Amino acid sequence: MTEQTILDMCCGSRMFWFDKNDQRAVFSDIRSEQHVLCDGRSLVIAPDLIADFRALPFSDAIFPVVVFDPPHLERVGPNGWQGKKYGKLNRDTWRDDLRAGFAEAFRVLRPHGVLIFKWNETQIPVSQVLELTNEKPAVWQRTGKADKTHWISFVKNSPIAAQSGDVSLLQYATSRIIELESLLLVEVPETVWPSEVAMVFSQVENAGDLPAHHQRRLQHHINRMWLEKMPVTSIIAAAKSLASAMEKYA
Ligand SMILES: C[S@@+](CC[C@H](N)C(=O)[O-])C[C@H]1O[C@@H](n2cnc3c(N)ncnc32)[C@H](O)[C@@H]1O
Repeated sequence: MTEQTILDMCCGSRMFWFDKNDQRAVFSDIRSEQHVLCDGRSLVIAPDLIADFRALPFSDAIFPVVVFDPPHLERVGPNGWQGKKYGKLNRDTWRDDLRAGFAEAFRVLRPHGVLIFKWNETQIPVSQVLELTNEKPAVWQRTGKADKTHWISFVKNSPIAAQSGDVSLLQYATSRIIELESLLLVEVPETVWPSEVAMVFSQVENAGDLPAHHQRRLQHHINRMWLEKMPVTSIIAAAKSLASAMEKYA
């Protein structure tokens, strides 16, 4: 089976698709219906799934490409062909609706995924629509009658720390590093007492198997504890516990 890599969030009758049954695409729309247009042609809106682009039923970051061609008219005749073909914007809520649509498009897009957005500004200027997303367009082409149709592509902004799925891992790793650093890097004068440090170090099982940077830090801490005049038994116990923490996160 072909992997479905393209989401068309409001496919309508798939007019602009090169292959209306492209197996790489998931076609969704809020309606499934058929009409006979005034010229006798039939208009078939038959999505693979009925879904609202304001709340898509997909996990985050799964599509490399998303197509978003929402309705662009807020005034259409009740039985006009335009409403049948393109649907209609809600006069009161269209800004919120499209804002939610953009947010959903970028949510389901993979990091660095491409959004292909189409807008016709017969009634609403494209500038008002672009205000509804913080993402920055990459490529922009005007076409059609009086250049009113805009084809705009975006590339999902994905700083490393914001890549979905990596966030919790990154946060976890950062907190472990901070925790370990506070455990290991205590401010002390670097006085080296080699024989005393070596004596305690030799009491710590597996200390010699730790990575070199952990061995150095363990010695540093043993040295610090000597400087603080801790009893030798306590230094050995603390060094063992430090070494086992280091082993765990080596
Ligand atoms: C401009 S048409 C899309 C035309 C399509 N690109 C084509 O090539 O035929 C907009 C489509 O968005 C659909 N739509 C309107 N509101 C929607 C929503 N909230 N969620 C999903 N689709 C919606 C309409 O039913 C309509 O079919």
